[in-house]
Amino acid sequence: MTGGCLAEIGHEVIVTDNDAAKIETLEAGRLPIYEPGLDTIIAKARNEGRLSFSAKPSDAVAAGDAIFICVGTPPLPNGDADLSAIDHVAKLIANEARSPKLVIEKSTVPAQTGQELKRALAVYGRKSGVTFRVASNPEFLREGTAIEDFLHPDRIVVGVEDEIAERQLHEIYRPVIERKFNCPMHSPGPCPDVPPPAWIVTTINSAELIKHASNSFLALKISYANMVADLAEKLGADIQEVVYAMGMDPRIGRSFLNAGLGFGGFCLPKDLQAFVHLAERTGVDFSLLKEVEKINRKRVGYVVEKIRRALWVVKGKQIAVLGLAFKANTDDIRFAPAIDLINQLVREGAKIRAYDPEAMEKARPLMPDVEMPESAYAAAKDSEALVIATEWKQFRELDWTRIRDTMTRPLIVDARNLLSGREMKALGLEYYSVGRPD
Ligand code: UGA
Repeated sequence: MTGGCLAEIGHEVIVTDNDAAKIETLEAGRLPIYEPGLDTIIAKARNEGRLSFSAKPSDAVAAGDAIFICVGTPPLPNGDADLSAIDHVAKLIANEARSPKLVIEKSTVPAQTGQELKRALAVYGRKSGVTFRVASNPEFLREGTAIEDFLHPDRIVVGVEDEIAERQLHEIYRPVIERKFNCPMHSPGPCPDVPPPAWIVTTINSAELIKHASNSFLALKISYANMVADLAEKLGADIQEVVYAMGMDPRIGRSFLNAGLGFGGFCLPKDLQAFVHLAERTGVDFSLLKEVEKINRKRVGYVVEKIRRALWVVKGKQIAVLGLAFKANTDDIRFAPAIDLINQLVREGAKIRAYDPEAMEKARPLMPDVEMPESAYAAAKDSEALVIATEWKQFRELDWTRIRDTMTRPLIVDARNLLSGREMKALGLEYYSVGRPD
């Protein structure tokens, strides 16, 4: 993603990975992930000779003045971020570099990793005499809108140790800062009329902290909205009305207050966990965030309980689930609440037919007991309940009369508050959602 976007704004980029199969897929013109618009920009950059893929990291290290580290930092069993891939890449860069390099952390890492990276580069490269500068440039891209987020960011944060690194990064991002690129997402029309991104220069430690603190705050907002939703449900209020009005206050903001199944994906849950561990290691009691995690862990169970109440007996029932991805516009099913929900229902003896516009290929091998037909209508047919588990816009636009007529019992559990309760009831569907009167 980073490679494709940097090439899109005019840089010459070599992307490398130790997973040779991934490089082969990319070289064959295919993408290992679904991300709207990415295929187009990659094809264009390759045609114009600005982007190439190599399974030989030495080629990429030799060619690059600036090297972005975009490796994964998955959670270790104890919840800390696993930094072994960063260490491995540091060794590789130090061994292969023959000229000065700016090494930029793009991966999400705990604060102070930059210091360790600098030390590692110096130790591994002690015989080469090559100068390494280290910088942190945290990623704020969301899956599903990553290209849009890269080209029209609200801020670009760079954690640096000197002006040379800052200038080099400013030069890399100049087309984005000055809006000097042909936007592939909006052309031929105009780009959205938003202010240019804030260029924020900090220390490396601050930049690393900004990333973890931002993702944890987003998680906190979601858990907060989910608790208010539970309260709204008990008190006969409507969470949608509540968060709409709350969000009108610019100090609060409307985004990330959508109640439902809780947050999933490969970023928010793991970053939150790593942040809690980082706080613990430094002796700071950040139990607030432990509560955020605890609330999130209970969300899927809460929706399963709702399904149980509506269906009375779950065992043996045919249930349709719309959505597998952890959110809309992606095929990513890592830590997806929808998958957790399906697994819980299967354990209770339900027969599941699931549909997702993009994620079925990834989910199929992991869920042999789940039927995955080619349309939402086929999933709904003969079902006694239909659960909306991912907020795909397409689901809102389905022909709900047709669905009603083919279901054995027209019962909808909208775990993402995607549909209008009033419209569903007017169509004669039994409708349950989250934080709204049933
Ligand atoms: C998140 C951050 O939003 C990005 O800014 C960050 O760059 C990225 O992690 C990262 O660290 O790389 P992403 O994981 O793509 O992005 O997904 P989000 O859009 O944050 O959604 C996360 C989860 O929260 C999804 O399961 C989504 O359905 C859920 N969510 C989101 C809610 O339940 N309610 C909301 O109001 C918003």
